[in-house]
Amino acid sequence: MKQWYQIKGNRPLEGAVTISGAKNAAVAVVPASILAGECCILENLPCIDDVNTLKDILCKMGAKATFTPGDCMQIDPTGINRFSVTFDMVGTLRASYYLLGALLGRYGYAELALPGGCVIGPRPIDQHIKGMRALGAEIVLENGIVKATAKKLKGAEVYFDVVSVGATINVMLAAVLAEGQTTLVNAAKEPHVVDVANFLNMMGGRVKGAGTDIIRISGVNKLHGCSYAIIPDQIEAGTFMVAAAATGGDVIIKNIIPTHLEAISAKLMESGATVIEGDDGREFYIQVIGNDRPRAINIKTLPYPGFPTDLQQPMMAYLSTAKGNSIIVENIFEERFNHVGELIRMGAVITLSGRTAMIEGVKQLTGAPLYATDLRAGAALIVAALSARGVSNIHNIEFIDRGYEHIAKKLTALGAQIKRCTE
Ligand code: UD1
Repeated sequence: MKQWYQIKGNRPLEGAVTISGAKNAAVAVVPASILAGECCILENLPCIDDVNTLKDILCKMGAKATFTPGDCMQIDPTGINRFSVTFDMVGTLRASYYLLGALLGRYGYAELALPGGCVIGPRPIDQHIKGMRALGAEIVLENGIVKATAKKLKGAEVYFDVVSVGATINVMLAAVLAEGQTTLVNAAKEPHVVDVANFLNMMGGRVKGAGTDIIRISGVNKLHGCSYAIIPDQIEAGTFMVAAAATGGDVIIKNIIPTHLEAISAKLMESGATVIEGDDGREFYIQVIGNDRPRAINIKTLPYPGFPTDLQQPMMAYLSTAKGNSIIVENIFEERFNHVGELIRMGAVITLSGRTAMIEGVKQLTGAPLYATDLRAGAALIVAALSARGVSNIHNIEFIDRGYEHIAKKLTALGAQIKRCTE
């Protein structure tokens, strides 16, 4: 059954929205729970398709995974008896690669069909493999399947040639039960890397330095069960911040960690929006107040704490109506520009040259039939449609459902006219 979002735009978003648990942390913490010899309870999990897919995979492997009230999942990995994950199990879930590190670390064997996920350019996993090989794993790649075997993983120094979130987390998962010390050099510093390290430590792991570019892991013999609450989603929060600014709205964004949002706050302020960080005594919040039209600004995506590539696409939708010309340089995924054609159909004026997009601001976008090509492109189209004059129908919303919890419900509560339609 085909579904799409219909959005009647040109209305300011107003009110408050609560951010869900971080997708990119959840998709690593759920597989990481395999490493425990006991049951784990994960809290603040986002209700998104990627998490459902992972739960199904774990169950097919023999674990018991059940959702419990309050966005929690209980995972008992003790029954795992299948160490191969086939393509029909992983489907579009790119982050399924974390099962490789987790299974290898716990059982010394893993077979994983190479992951799908968003089409945003080549996404090699050579650094994951390099790291696991350094720990002593034997890894072969045959017919689209990675097979990893190790009698006993041994700590080692791993230097990553590129800063990779996935490789940093995956090698951390493989190393936590390895013998001796592992040092990850040129590690990614994203908030979800720190969250996974905190989870491993909560299970009895010894991981130090997460959040810096050198992570040291002292292997332990076993990990125990625990309860762990996942951090709020930096990218979901950023998407709502951009949407608030793009619609000239006034939105309070709750359940956030302000330091994770510094890059986006800085860029929104530079574009003329008002961003107020606050603490109501119980929790932090950020209030974003938009203007009629933003000022043009330039953005370069970079690993954390730089401007996140995942917000490049929504930000481009916002800058499409800026006064003046903006330049966005995409340094992480060179082909992450699938949304550009759709924005152009809404009246945006954007020219691409390699990794650079030049956006000539127009007064307003107009609604159009739109097609999401990946998760964050979908988010960009929602931002564009909310600010545009007229009606937009956004198709391929399965991409959006992979990563945004109840997005239509949250936007409706902010006064948006958004409807999930079914053919
Ligand atoms: C993660 C995020 C994704 C985000 C991205 C960058 C998850 C589930 N996804 O993706 O939302 O956009 O980080 O912040 O957390 N690379 C290699 N070899 C490797 C691995 C990566 O060359 O083995 C390159 C990639 O092609 C890319 C860069 O390194 O150019 C960064 O990729 P990486 O940080 O690994 O992204 P993901 O973990 O796939």
